[in-house]
Amino acid sequence: MLMPKISSPVLWHGGDYNPDQWLDRPDILEQDLLLMQKAHVNCVSVGIFSWSLLEPEEGVFNFAWLDSVIDRLYAHGISVCLATPSGARPAWMAEKYPEVMRTDAQFVRRRFGGRHNHCLTSPVYREKVKRIDGRLAERYGKHPAVKLWHIGNEFGGYCYCDLCKKAFQEWLKEKYTTLDELNRRWWGAFWSHRYSRWEQIDPPSPLGETSNPSMQLDYARFMTAQCASFIREEREAIRPFSSLPVTVNMMWDFADYDYHTLAKEVDVISWDAYPYFTGASNLKTLAEACMNHDFMRSLKDAPFLMIESSPSKVNWHPVNHLKRPGMHLTSSLLAVFSGSDSVMYFQWRKGRGGSEAFHGAVMDHSGRDDTRVFRDVTEVGDALIRLSDLKAQPLEKAKVLIVSDTENRWACLNVQTGYQGKMDPILEAHRHHQALMELGVRCDVKDMSEDTHLEDYDLVICPQLFMYREHFDKRLESYVRNGGCVFQTCFSGIVDGDDLAYLGTAPHGTAQVFGIRDPELDALYPEETITLRLATGESIPAMEICEYPEDVTADTVLGVYETDFCQSLPCFTLNHYGAGLAFYLAARVDTEALKTVYERIFRDVPVERTVDFPLPKDVVALSRGASTLIANLGAGTRLIKMTSPASDRLSGALLNESFALESGRCVVIARKQNG
Ligand code: GAL
Repeated sequence: MLMPKISSPVLWHGGDYNPDQWLDRPDILEQDLLLMQKAHVNCVSVGIFSWSLLEPEEGVFNFAWLDSVIDRLYAHGISVCLATPSGARPAWMAEKYPEVMRTDAQFVRRRFGGRHNHCLTSPVYREKVKRIDGRLAERYGKHPAVKLWHIGNEFGGYCYCDLCKKAFQEWLKEKYTTLDELNRRWWGAFWSHRYSRWEQIDPPSPLGETSNPSMQLDYARFMTAQCASFIREEREAIRPFSSLPVTVNMMWDFADYDYHTLAKEVDVISWDAYPYFTGASNLKTLAEACMNHDFMRSLKDAPFLMIESSPSKVNWHPVNHLKRPGMHLTSSLLAVFSGSDSVMYFQWRKGRGGSEAFHGAVMDHSGRDDTRVFRDVTEVGDALIRLSDLKAQPLEKAKVLIVSDTENRWACLNVQTGYQGKMDPILEAHRHHQALMELGVRCDVKDMSEDTHLEDYDLVICPQLFMYREHFDKRLESYVRNGGCVFQTCFSGIVDGDDLAYLGTAPHGTAQVFGIRDPELDALYPEETITLRLATGESIPAMEICEYPEDVTADTVLGVYETDFCQSLPCFTLNHYGAGLAFYLAARVDTEALKTVYERIFRDVPVERTVDFPLPKDVVALSRGASTLIANLGAGTRLIKMTSPASDRLSGALLNESFALESGRCVVIARKQNG
């Protein structure tokens, strides 16, 4: 199916614009347009929370203000992502139709207030949303300023109302057909939890059932399905009037819904990036942001949009730290070099009231453009113009894949074993991603579904794949047999897609691939130390969880435990299987240790590095098109030693072969030619 694409030759720079909060200040609206031009803003998202103004009473619509806003933006050369307002509903709707409000896990219906506080199942809510969406699409779907539909806002959270309960029961009937089948696959004999009528099944709640992981998994799947069909209905309401692409703004490491499913409902992937900046090293926080960027790019193997970020600080982190000098440009370009076609902010102008009045914005309450933030934002706008050639060049596919799967994540978050509170596999995936990033290796991040083609990659990394979804073991086995290389870590291949433990040898279906059998899982107290000694001579510490395989037949032992009762037991192995290679690491280790592990793996699995010189500590490099970004994410100045001088595309300065890069700063050089 051909998906609509954004028609724009430029990288977008802009963000959420809420003129509806300023309609009584035409002077400010006028100033906005001029200052947007000054900051090189070329696209804004409008109308995300405007429903009470667009439809002040049921069936009474008011578009005059929006007509004027969009026309004037267009006249100033600024494009529009036009939002549907389904992220927050007007008070009249909650008053008249209480069913639209969300019900929490205690089965208590919420009152009007907040946002994202509605039931995605409610037929009334869906009907009201479709009506306003249709009106918006009819009126603006062909406006030359409008380039993209921004559906809702940050879909998230679960509802537990009777409508959802009924729909869940129907969804279960469709999936299992008989209660016997459901009872079997939910392991219903445990604690006498068999159901004898579909109507007995409540959504999982602390007031009832929260101790059945299979059921919780299904509720997460069901809620994902409800959200996907909600988005689909919004898109379908728009389609008769507009063929423009649609997006939903996704979030950081978000586990409520499976984004792989939602991605199928939209044409363009976009997400909101709010890293926890510090004054010291930002390597970890930005490496995590970059894993999210890679995940978003991998959802469609296509450029995505960073549709929100803060131009300075946020107001909801535990510590709301300002970005230090240079960091705004650097963090923005990390997104662009990861595949984002935009740098967009929340928000253009700070409101005077509401809970976000002190969240960072391009325009402060001072209303002045001679501020540090405005200068930083203008610098980014300028950089995006200089780098606009990146937009036209096709993104290259990475050759290394990290498998990160939401269903596996749900299973790990519900499992009761190991190190409680530390079983989230995304944390393990982050460590691998950061290690690879520090080593200059670019990767994709995809799930276990059939849409992921392992054969496209030279190296497939399986960090803590506790759940092997259906056939994943067979796909992995065939990938390695046919010459692929895989690296798997502990606590993998244990449960099936119903979250039921596989019977027989573990890891399920791949024990012979890795040459290890039935590992026993241990958890370590923080003060405990178990070290691994690698065949290369280094010792690295294990942490949190580790496994002791019952039997190791892998042909090459790359590391052994050197302390505790497991002394000399293999913990890092390589097995030649078919035409491929299978590496296994039985202990969880930190990022620093993983770098050592990867350097060993790369001896057998050559991977391309972004630059042809070693990256100093805390320095990362990303390439896109014909350019490479080099960024210092550490707390101090770093000396970069390249193999030849280069010029910086951002400043135009000539960089010597060795040059000092200050903390938080970046340069963009011509990409090295491989081969
Ligand atoms: C996002 C949200 C925006 C705004 C922003 C503040 O999650 O989509 O509307 O609230 O956070 O950081």
